[in-house]
Amino acid sequence: MAFYSEDIIEEVRVSNDIVDVISEYIRLEKKGSNFFGLCPFHREKTPSFSVSPTKQIFNCFGCGKGGNVIQFIMNIENLDFPEAIKLLANRARITLPEDEDRETHKKNILKNKIIKINTEAARFFHNKLKDKTSQKKALLYLKERGIAPGTIVKFGIGYCSDEGDELFKYLSKAGYNEEIIVKSGLAIKSEKGGCYDRFRNRIIFPIFDVRGSVIGFGGRSIDSSGPKYLNSPESIVYNKRKNLYAMNFARTSGEKRVVVVEGYMDVISLHQNGISNAVASLGTALTVDQGRILKKYFEEVIISYDADTAGQAATVRGLDILNEIGCNVRVLLIPEGKDPDEFVNKYGGKAFQNLMEKTLSLVDYKIEILKKQHNTKTTDGKVEFFNSCAELLSKIDNRVERDMYIVKLAEEYNISRESFSQEVYKKIQPRQLIKQRPVNLKAASGNIGGKSVHDEEKIAYYERILLSLLSMDNNAYFAVKDKLENYEFTSENKEVANFAIDRLADNKGLVAAELLNFTDGELAGKFGRVMQEDCNCEDTRKAVLDIINKIELHRLDIRKQEIIKLLNSQMDEGDVEKLNQELKSIMIKTLLLKKGGEGNES
Ligand code: GTP
Ligand code: MN
Repeated sequence: MAFYSEDIIEEVRVSNDIVDVISEYIRLEKKGSNFFGLCPFHREKTPSFSVSPTKQIFNCFGCGKGGNVIQFIMNIENLDFPEAIKLLANRARITLPEDEDRETHKKNILKNKIIKINTEAARFFHNKLKDKTSQKKALLYLKERGIAPGTIVKFGIGYCSDEGDELFKYLSKAGYNEEIIVKSGLAIKSEKGGCYDRFRNRIIFPIFDVRGSVIGFGGRSIDSSGPKYLNSPESIVYNKRKNLYAMNFARTSGEKRVVVVEGYMDVISLHQNGISNAVASLGTALTVDQGRILKKYFEEVIISYDADTAGQAATVRGLDILNEIGCNVRVLLIPEGKDPDEFVNKYGGKAFQNLMEKTLSLVDYKIEILKKQHNTKTTDGKVEFFNSCAELLSKIDNRVERDMYIVKLAEEYNISRESFSQEVYKKIQPRQLIKQRPVNLKAASGNIGGKSVHDEEKIAYYERILLSLLSMDNNAYFAVKDKLENYEFTSENKEVANFAIDRLADNKGLVAAELLNFTDGELAGKFGRVMQEDCNCEDTRKAVLDIINKIELHRLDIRKQEIIKLLNSQMDEGDVEKLNQELKSIMIKTLLLKKGGEGNES
């Protein structure tokens, strides 16, 4: 794991304005001094997600997520801390120390160049649709396939004529050298020397990565010459096993489910019909890498491949891969053997959405396939069918789930539940059965060593207010410096507190959002909330003193309760005496603190 210094982390944070960054993901509206929008981390209809430009923090009152720009990126892109720093450094064009490594640096430059040339080419192809000489054929084709003008723009669809070196000439003129054009895959070096374009007389679909950079192209033949689709070759930026078409759009759809289809046209038609959470795996069977991307952004993956045998095999393979990496997978079957593109063009988006409510589980889908493979009208066929089903069900890890399928199938075919169940259990590996112990549910304990969790939480909460206040007004530190010297922070806040106090004690300065650089997701949320809600006071010095007072009072109260408990239990005389003394001193301290508190308030 990369390690970055405090300074570089802070430089990265400061160089990425939180409002700008968040606006790239959701629509923000200014209300008063803050910005508001719909929280990207949970479903909601009225905005409870706020961003403070002055504090440089975000905060959701609905789901409790919060933090600075780093935590926002960690949450929304599902990245760990160093990855988020990398992304933000990249965004702000800050060179991280490790990037100074020559090789990676050179590689990054090449990557950027290819993305730039691809972007240029995408623009060229797209503009061809406006070009009088070539537009007709292409536009007619797109129109016949039901692609609306807005969709053409959204997906950056374009066209390349059959001239053969049009793009190459254009890019050369724009200043790109032959080597880089060939490296991008847009042109091919001919044996005689010279270069020709890879794509000819094709509709062009730019392929974007998750962040929307053009990494490659797919070209659809419109005159049935050559292969139906021609794609960019694999390159330093384009790896088809690691990308999903339209993921850049789908990931911001706000949906919890994603629909995976086979082709460009399927995705495009679905998006056009309001299914904005569709992506395509582009002809290959789903890979583990693609599965991980899907899992990163969605809770459930719905596969909707062609119903033909190739599609069926690809579906099963995809399902198994996704299942293995822990995705919740479902299968969407399209009636009449249509592909998603045909279906949605004929019946509309609403009809497709209805299908999305009738998806099959992995097991149900496999049972459906077995049904088709066996003739259950004959006795032999039926025996074979149940044998295969038993094999299938024996592989389910979850006993409840397995039993549910046993009951369902036995009822559907009117056979004995017991004997079918026996068949299934016979096939289960003995080892697997041993593994099946009941889950050991940890009883939720409210007490740790006599102190209730609730008390600890309250103190931790006060501490967060204290630290936040100090980060907003560094001078207030000197009002409480002495008190903090011997103060032991709760374990949850310890790391942040150590960092903050060191900074303040050394007079190095500290800002609110910086405090969050060293928190993880949940803690960042708690801090963010406190900063947004509880730290708006006029006199920070006074507020800080009040809070310390509160913490001390609370600590004393906890100790008081402990003593009372102890006194109620069996104890010898000497101990009772000692505890009584302590109790007395607690009472006095409490009184004094309360008085002090009143004094502060007036
Ligand atoms: P249309 O036939 O125009 O509706 O396209 P489609 O997107 O529905 O394609 P199809 O379902 O036939 O194939 C699914 C995907 O497989 C395509 O989007 C391509 O990515 C890929 N594919 C199909 N045919 C070819 C081919 O001839 N060569 C290559 N390299 N890929 C192909
Ligand atoms: Mn199709």
